[in-house]
Amino acid sequence: MTTTTNKKRILSGMRATGRLHLGNFVGALENWVKMQGEYENYHLVADWHVLTTDAEHTDQILPNTIEMVRDWLSAGIDPNISPMFRQSQVKEHAELHLLFSMLVTQSRLERNPTLKDQIRDLRDKLQARDIADKDRPDNEVTDSGLVTYGHLGYPVLQAADILLYKGNVVPVGEDQLPHVEITREIARRFNRYYGEVFPEPTGYVLKESKFSRLPGSDGKRMSKSLGNTIYLSDSEEETGKGIMSMVTDVQKVRRNDPGRPEVCNVFTYHQKFNPDEIPQIETDCKSGELGCVACKKNCAAKLNAYLAPMRERRQQYDDNAVMDILTAGEAKARAVAQDTMIQVRDAMNFG
Ligand code: TRP
Repeated sequence: MTTTTNKKRILSGMRATGRLHLGNFVGALENWVKMQGEYENYHLVADWHVLTTDAEHTDQILPNTIEMVRDWLSAGIDPNISPMFRQSQVKEHAELHLLFSMLVTQSRLERNPTLKDQIRDLRDKLQARDIADKDRPDNEVTDSGLVTYGHLGYPVLQAADILLYKGNVVPVGEDQLPHVEITREIARRFNRYYGEVFPEPTGYVLKESKFSRLPGSDGKRMSKSLGNTIYLSDSEEETGKGIMSMVTDVQKVRRNDPGRPEVCNVFTYHQKFNPDEIPQIETDCKSGELGCVACKKNCAAKLNAYLAPMRERRQQYDDNAVMDILTAGEAKARAVAQDTMIQVRDAMNFG
């Protein structure tokens, strides 16, 4: 039996891509932590979804899962309140995905805007690795020759992830909204054909503040592939180096030159991690009194203070502890998923 509460349920998920950086924290994880009290949270590791990026190499999926979940735990997600689990360990995801695949047309999935991004990424990757079929000129590798059944069905699997837990709310970045929309369409169609089983989830777009996109050390979007990241698991020293290497206002060359905080990357970090000193820093930067080196040192210290509790929590979670937490979360998730599948099979006369 699954326990029910009056709280709305959140199903949130991330692809198992390894260590998280500050951009992931500010853009998503921090919100998960904040929503813990208000909602009932289920946190899914989308480890099957990773296969769309590289189906051939699966050896990094588990280590990447462990790193990512360790970051969730370090950030303050309480495993006793909010189960964390791998998609691959709850087979009901596959069953519901199959049933849902009959309820959505090929053309609907081809219209999914994220499919285009995936194709572009695949092309880049093929070129980078030079594994494109040598016998065919590259321009003959058509889009439909690159896209697998799994790419097309990516949002269908995500719909199963969400609806298996009857998630009411899905916290996502803007880019994922099309998947939530497809989820809603599938839920509606299912309910119309077979009777009311699923809620229609709403996408809760993580607040579009200037911090939802924390810039990397070069001022561009923080991204693993750009090498401009500060990881949550970085040491104090590495974090300090990340800040010290940041670009500031390029027009401020000498210490006494007046600076422009509004174009300065370091200032963005102060706004997020050192809000109390903002008025002072703004004044002193603009007057030229505050040099960039001192300003960065201060920023690094404040960021490290901010991260200190996370570093402390991290100590508690070695690989075995993370695996135990996943195993426990998977048992809880499975109970909910099995309950839903009983209703689904009954509704569809497969009971
Ligand atoms: N597609 C999501 C992403 O790329 C990951 C994901 C898989 C997900 N299943 C989910 C997110 C269910 C929310 C709910 O970020």
